[in-house]
Amino acid sequence: QKRIGILTSGGDCAGLNAVIRAVVHHAFNTYGWEVLGIRQATQGLMVRPPLASSLTPDKVDPFLTAGGTMLGTTNKGNPFAFPLPDGSLRDRSHEIIEGYRLLGLDALIGIGGDGSLAILQRLAQQGNLNLVGIPKTIDNDVGVTELSIGFDTAVSIATEALDRLHFTAASHSRVMILEVMGRDAGHIAISAGIAGGADIILIPEIPYTINGICQAIKQRQEAGKNYCLVIVAEAVRTEAGESVTLDSDVEQCRLGGIGQYLSKQICSRIDAETRVTVLGHIQRGGTPSPLDRLIGATFGVAAVDLIAEEKYDCVVTWQNRHVRSVSIREAILHYAAVNPEGTLVKTARGLNIYLGD
Ligand code: F6P
Repeated sequence: QKRIGILTSGGDCAGLNAVIRAVVHHAFNTYGWEVLGIRQATQGLMVRPPLASSLTPDKVDPFLTAGGTMLGTTNKGNPFAFPLPDGSLRDRSHEIIEGYRLLGLDALIGIGGDGSLAILQRLAQQGNLNLVGIPKTIDNDVGVTELSIGFDTAVSIATEALDRLHFTAASHSRVMILEVMGRDAGHIAISAGIAGGADIILIPEIPYTINGICQAIKQRQEAGKNYCLVIVAEAVRTEAGESVTLDSDVEQCRLGGIGQYLSKQICSRIDAETRVTVLGHIQRGGTPSPLDRLIGATFGVAAVDLIAEEKYDCVVTWQNRHVRSVSIREAILHYAAVNPEGTLVKTARGLNIYLGD
């Protein structure tokens, strides 16, 4: 008989509730364990009493198709340098460890991206906590797993956005620029770009020139194609290698950055009318795709089995059609950007998509 905790940490994404549901079903029905849902990531363990409540299959079932996380989350406040109201930073890690003990947990399942997993691992080491990690991030940049929760849904949404932009672009003879998320990586951009029939895909892993982009647009115009679809990852820099960030987070979310820069550059050099769409957090919300639910369920069940085997300090991953566990240390070390020589880049080039010179 065990009592396990589960929390979601870092930015939300679609599919988190499928993981939570699978953990609760398997732990409760197969092993007869109690599962405590911890609210607001590790911050829920800092509060007294800790923000946790018992989860049962009946409670989690309605959330399978819901986006976000039924437990709430935050990506603010590293517990080792936690911001206080006066602006100073304090190490509050011991409070989290104490929260784990107060709840009487035998193990903790932490669902997070590389940043959250690194923090959880440090906490587990410091407090001797029994931790199993589950990778989630729409950015798909956790290198030990081919898929992380949320990526497939984000790609579906970005692809749908291109599908929609296609027709309005054609109707108005415009160059449509879609700016997508991905943090430092271009996985969403290249995947959705290929799936959604983009003509130009810009990712941070491959340099481009404005001249190359303009040539690609002109070639299409000369071939009688009156419109052009461009997808650009948020981390793409200017031609000179500078990052395009606006003064406030709010403006950055609404206006994007690199999309606006490209729009101005294109219009100043060729006869083209451009419009920019910044997809933003739409990519993280909404109904999770079947694949995200499937991977979520698989990861959830596997994480519970690892706890049953008392195998801790590891992360579940998806590799070659199988779920496998690797050490958290290995998971944190292996960051995955888009491989400029990889299959997707070759595929895009094979489709005559402009990716860079
Ligand atoms: O890491 C996930 C992600 O959605 C990135 O793609 C994006 O850059 C960032 O988080 C946005 O973070 P926030 O929710 O803090 O705006």
